[in-house]
This record gives sequence, C-alpha cells and structure tokens, in this order.
Amino acid sequence: MSSSNATVTRQELCEKIGQLPQVDIGHFPTPLEECPRLSEVLGGPRIFMKREDCSGLAFGGNKVRQLTFTIGEAVHQGADTIVHGAASQSNHCRQAAAAAARLGLRCYLRLSRDDKSMPQGNLLLDHLAGAEIELVDAFLGPKLDAIKYALAEELKAEGLKPYVIASPRSTALAAVAFAWCVAEIHKQQEAMQIQADRIYAASAGGTLAGLILGSKSLGMKLKPVGIAPIDWDDRIERVRKAGNEAARILDLDIEITDDAVCCTNAYVGEAYGVVSPESVEAIRLVARTEGIFLDPVYTSKAMAGLIDHIRRGEIASNETVIFLHTGGTPALFAYDEELL
Ligand SMILES: Cc1ncc(COP(=O)(O)O)c(C=O)c1O
Repeated sequence: MSSSNATVTRQELCEKIGQLPQVDIGHFPTPLEECPRLSEVLGGPRIFMKREDCSGLAFGGNKVRQLTFTIGEAVHQGADTIVHGAASQSNHCRQAAAAAARLGLRCYLRLSRDDKSMPQGNLLLDHLAGAEIELVDAFLGPKLDAIKYALAEELKAEGLKPYVIASPRSTALAAVAFAWCVAEIHKQQEAMQIQADRIYAASAGGTLAGLILGSKSLGMKLKPVGIAPIDWDDRIERVRKAGNEAARILDLDIEITDDAVCCTNAYVGEAYGVVSPESVEAIRLVARTEGIFLDPVYTSKAMAGLIDHIRRGEIASNETVIFLHTGGTPALFAYDEELL
C-alpha cells in the first residue's frame, strides 16, 4: 500500500517519531472498527471509526496521544509540575491532570469560568485526579496563556520546575502525534485490506495538521477533512503552521500549503461548546446504531458534518471514510439538560 508519492516509508516515519522524548501513558494502537449499521442507515459509504476515545488514560481521547509528546518533553526537561488551562470542561486538562497523576507530577489548572464550570464531567475528574484548580475570568487564547505563564513564574520562585502546555508548541506536538496515528491507520488498512478515501475529524488545530502531514508523507490517498468545533478565522493558517512545524521537528521534507488544509466551520452552530440540533441527532444516531457515544462539543459536530456531506451527495456510496473519534465523552455528563 506504499505509494510512489511517499516521502518516507511507514517504518522511517515511526523511527523519526520514536526518537522524540515521550512518555508511555496510552493504549496504542487504538482500534479501527467498521460501523456497518451507521453506513446502512445513512445509505452512504463504508464508514470505519478510528477509536481514539479508546486510548486508555482517563476515558481516552485525542489528547492522550498529544500529551505523550508534550509531557514527554516536560519530563525530558526535568519538569516536576504541569501547568495547563482551557475551558472548564476541557478534555485536554482532564487528561493532563490524569497523566500528571500517573507520572507523579504536580498539575495546576487555570480553567475559564463559564456556564459549564459546575463540578461535573471533566471538571469533576480534574478534582478527583488531584489537580490544583482555579477558575479564572479568561477564555481560551492569549489572556489565559498569560495567566498560565504568570503562574509558572510564581511556581519557579517557590522552587518548582513547571512546564506550561500552550500553543504553538503543544499544537505542533499534536501534529507529530497525529502523524503517528496515520502511520497506525496505514498499517491497520493494510491488514484489513482497505484504502479509505477520506478521514473526518473534529479539529481546527494539531489533530488535523498531523493527519495531513501523515497522509502526505506516506503518499496515501486518504484526504483529511477537519470539522472545526470553534469559529476561528485563522484556522487554515493555524493548521498549516502546526503541520509545517511538525514536519521540521520530524525532519520531513514536506511543505503543507493552505490549499492542502480542508477545514470547515459550517458545523460549529451557535457557538463553541453549545449543542446544535444536528449534533444532538448525531449523538443519538451513533449511539443507537453502533453503541458508541460521541461527545457534545467536538465529535458530535464532526459527525454532523460527515452526515451532512453524505446526505448532500458529496461522498459517493462506493467510497470508504474513516471517522476519527477524538473522545471527549466525559463532557456528556455536564450536558444532560441539552441532550435529553
Ligand atoms: C474531544 C476532542 N476532539 C477534538 C479536539 C480538537 O483538537 P484540535 O486541537 O486538533 O483542534 C479536542 C481538543 O480540545 C478534543 O478535546
């Protein structure tokens, strides 16, 4: 299944990735499973699901793969403390708290005070994993990052060795992680004798960047489609930059251009973190056909995008599609009112 367009073989790509500092915190490879009942109901293509939600640590999800490298870098640099922050129901923060607990590191989280900051879902799990948590009046972005870096300075003054998880480094390492995920898919496809045409993922960042980098470097026909969970105007640039930075980290002779980045914001709905009628339909449909739960913030919107593309005839019924289930399911328990 190797192609003449490949820049590297799968083994070479895996060797390059294997040379980076990393920690063993997840269950990899994650399964690649067919969803025949979902395909049948949609009257559409063959659908497979890459189960990143089964990546093991703390209910799984795409951030386990990413933290393999960010926390790997932290440990390599001698850090004893992880500083992170995002929305109050952040999956990334929940998994950072769990990874830190598992590795014997301290974890400080600065989470946005929002309408989901009750101790349920991910926030409940952050507390159980022993993170030191403070709610702050700042949304994702430069203001929250400034709070994280200021905290790191205070912790340094107390004699700790903090590592701050933040973009752009964290996003580039996510792209490395998802290039690795593509290498897994490449191997699984060979064993299953399939060659998917497209891969759908909830991402406007490192996950999508890694899928693009991985499929391009291995010369696969797999076309990554990102369904943005948040309305970021600069999403194409963010993905391109993360992919190119990951290519540099891995010493891959690849240049990702804007036209290689397919990322739509058409399924965000009212706002980030707010369910839409289509995302609720997607959660119910996948649960009732395959017994698999999507999450309310990310994967349900990506699935709403895939369903809409199938219904509009943008994907032919003889195609094969992989849906990357990026996890996030603990947030379901903070959305009971919207989902019932
Ligand atoms: C469950 C889940 N899916 C998808 C994403 C999006 O990942 P990316 O950082 O690649 O946009 C996240 C990130 O927060 C997430 O938690």
